[in-house]
Amino acid sequence: MGAGRHPDYVSGVKGTVVQASASGKVILLGEHAVVYGRPAIAVPLSGLRATATLTPHPGPFHIQAPAVEVDAPLSELPPDHPLARIVYLTAEHIRRPPPDALLRIESDIPVASGLGSGAAVSTAIVRALAAWYGVPLDPPTISALVYEVERIHHGTPSGIDNTVIAYERPVHFIRGRPPEPLPVGATLHLLVADSGIPSQTREVVGDVRRHWEAEPARYEKLFDRVAEEVEAARQAIAQGDARALGRRMDANHELLREMGVSAPVLDRLVEAARRAGALGAKLSGAGRGGNVVALVEESAAESVEGALRTAGAAHVWRTDIAGEDDAKAASDELIMTLPVRERSLRGTMGRSNLPSA
Ligand code: MEV
Repeated sequence: MGAGRHPDYVSGVKGTVVQASASGKVILLGEHAVVYGRPAIAVPLSGLRATATLTPHPGPFHIQAPAVEVDAPLSELPPDHPLARIVYLTAEHIRRPPPDALLRIESDIPVASGLGSGAAVSTAIVRALAAWYGVPLDPPTISALVYEVERIHHGTPSGIDNTVIAYERPVHFIRGRPPEPLPVGATLHLLVADSGIPSQTREVVGDVRRHWEAEPARYEKLFDRVAEEVEAARQAIAQGDARALGRRMDANHELLREMGVSAPVLDRLVEAARRAGALGAKLSGAGRGGNVVALVEESAAESVEGALRTAGAAHVWRTDIAGEDDAKAASDELIMTLPVRERSLRGTMGRSNLPSA
């Protein structure tokens, strides 16, 4: 989607077809440690989206999600099925029954890849139902509803995924606190490479917990060191110092290796990106599989992308996080608490190109 705006979240009016979407996300620094109260930084991947479409249908509420082989009336899904749960939670919150409608879910975001596919699908559903009934919901409310479903997916999530996706802007996040916006001094050019190996967030987060319980002092120290990298990275981002940010990302990858959440395939991709000229690279998300994220100079993007593919990446996406000058015009519109139907984010942050693979 390049320099253009990304789609409005919601289109359609009550009683006709309503469509809503939500972006993917990538964690720039701080995963895992964020579960233990340390800060983390995440950005939206606005070019990769999940879409929820509600079409009038002679009841009862029916859900189609071909990617996960769901094609059933809501009442036939177990109540703790993630798709059913977000529908019930939203209906309860807005005090309306699930409408006589067909809900169809489509998504460009690969499942189990650390790119927030589950949270994006839930967010799109909340937005679609709220728009169907004309009930405005703000990002903190959407984020809180989606968090409940994230708990089914992940057990003890920090809340960073639902937050960055519901706000769809770069965030500095500490568990249990409202997110802080992240000033971006100069546009960041990122490559996200999918290893093609699923990342099982619940299992990896559980493993880290077991290690932390077995060796609390060692893991607390590792989390503290991650927090130092995150705070230094935040400053580097604000100052537009991509080289310093790259060094922090490299250091964060080493700490994630020490935590035991990397994998040979991730180390290989990280190494390939660095050798091809990336300013920094690290695994992103829970690890063991999933993605790596590389920070590049714009001029090096193509060669680093090629190197990632040669090293075995199943997909590579490019995304730009707009710096303040680029974002300024549109950031005036970006008021975090405005109701979703009254707002259209203009692709100022997390502006992403469409998948290039
Ligand atoms: C998953 O995207 C990020 C983790 O830090 C888990 C969480 O924050 O809930 C691994």
